[in-house]
Amino acid sequence: MKLKQSYITMSFDLVFFGGTGDLTWRKLMPALFQAMRHHKLPEGGRIIAVARDERSDEQYRNFIKERFADVEPGKRPSDEEFAKFAEMLHFRRMDLSQPEHYAGLKAMLDERGAGTVVLYLATSPYLFPVICKQLGMAGLNAPHIRVVLEKPLGHDLASAQEINRVVKAAFHETQAFRIDHYLGKPAVQNLMALRFGNALFEPVWRRESIANIQITLAEELGVGTRGDYYDKTGALRDMIQNHALQLLTMIAMEPPSTNDADAIRDEKLKVLKSLRPFNAETVMRDVVRGQYRAGSVEGRRVPGYLEEVKVPANSTCETFVAIRTEVQNWRWAGVPFYLRTGKRLGSREAQIVVNFREVPHPIFPGASRANKLVIKLQPEDGLELHLLAAKGSGNNELLSPVSLDLDFDKAFPSERVGAYERLLLDAIGGRLNLFVRSDEQEQAWRWVEPVLEAWSKDPAGPRPYAAGSWGPPESSAMVARDGCAWAEEQ
Ligand code: BG6
Repeated sequence: MKLKQSYITMSFDLVFFGGTGDLTWRKLMPALFQAMRHHKLPEGGRIIAVARDERSDEQYRNFIKERFADVEPGKRPSDEEFAKFAEMLHFRRMDLSQPEHYAGLKAMLDERGAGTVVLYLATSPYLFPVICKQLGMAGLNAPHIRVVLEKPLGHDLASAQEINRVVKAAFHETQAFRIDHYLGKPAVQNLMALRFGNALFEPVWRRESIANIQITLAEELGVGTRGDYYDKTGALRDMIQNHALQLLTMIAMEPPSTNDADAIRDEKLKVLKSLRPFNAETVMRDVVRGQYRAGSVEGRRVPGYLEEVKVPANSTCETFVAIRTEVQNWRWAGVPFYLRTGKRLGSREAQIVVNFREVPHPIFPGASRANKLVIKLQPEDGLELHLLAAKGSGNNELLSPVSLDLDFDKAFPSERVGAYERLLLDAIGGRLNLFVRSDEQEQAWRWVEPVLEAWSKDPAGPRPYAAGSWGPPESSAMVARDGCAWAEEQ
């Protein structure tokens, strides 16, 4: 691919703590490379990977070059492209407990005097407090410096508050970029565009027209080699507390007065505060947890969760959660919001389904069918609007289901930007819109905590489901109680 000049020039230093870790080479470096290839990464940047071991810049560049072999073919650099990318890459050894190593980093950054410094904590989260404290003590917290924090941000409300306390002691909230990579997905930005860039949907975006909303984040993969991490986390903490709730806020929020980060985040916070709180009784009724057993995915036999590596044989960790909740305000009173996520489900599919109400007075023969808007996040990124139409075949014909489909990858073929690419560029550019504020994050923990507590006292444990299915039957039963069905059952 021919290399062109980037359109923007800007001096920045991007520092990755955890520079040899999985996240850095699997997601962040490929995303930065794509940003360079798309001419979106400003010229004049330096990327500094920080880790414990001793390596030269050259050795680090080779390490990253080799890792690109694991990236999907279309996203691998040519030799010419990698050479250009590698010019930006540097390596610095640091022991994260040593104050003088932070002083050394500061001297290195000060010497260049870049206009923007982004410190990305791609380490294990138990290191966040120590790193933030040391950054503050070393004076690596001036206004042109930003800190990016990767999930998991806490294990419960208390630990999230502790991380926020340490971050706030060193940085202003406007310097703190908390990542939820779902917010970087193009479909999520399109959700904002759909709701607030078009006049068409907003008048019907309310309880009078909408029967229920379903958010599904389904994965085909199991826990793979992450059994030890996952077993201490579970689906509620891994996917619902962050990704699913962030999507819910985007769907349910009131129109913000501007497109500024805090105008948006204020509205998202209001949604989180309006969620119906759980108690021990409603957890048993409105939350279903499951754990996969052996089964078949895409025609292949796969083991159950308890047979996965590094998973204790008697684990009660949930790999599936389905939740029914409500947003208690005038717009949404009484409308069920169903959230569901799981590993080893029927297909990899992330989507939001908005089920509209049926027509109030049917005049056509046959059963009427409610309209449905499907916002697809992955694997495709698009919108489907399901309607009923007449074929024109004569009097008394039955209406037929049709759908208007919009595939954003086809509509904007050359401009699609991946989630990490988008979020890294936003962190460099100082745009906070797609990052989570501390009060949102804490409120989300506040909402899930009674669920965790009720589960810890419930000897029944998670319900089993076969790998390749759509979770335990209790999930469908919960939705059926309202006279509804999950999208794949409709
Ligand atoms: C991560 C979770 O946040 O999101 C993983 O920790 C999960 O368990 C992943 O697999 C899913 O992300 P995506 O973008 O592949 O849907």
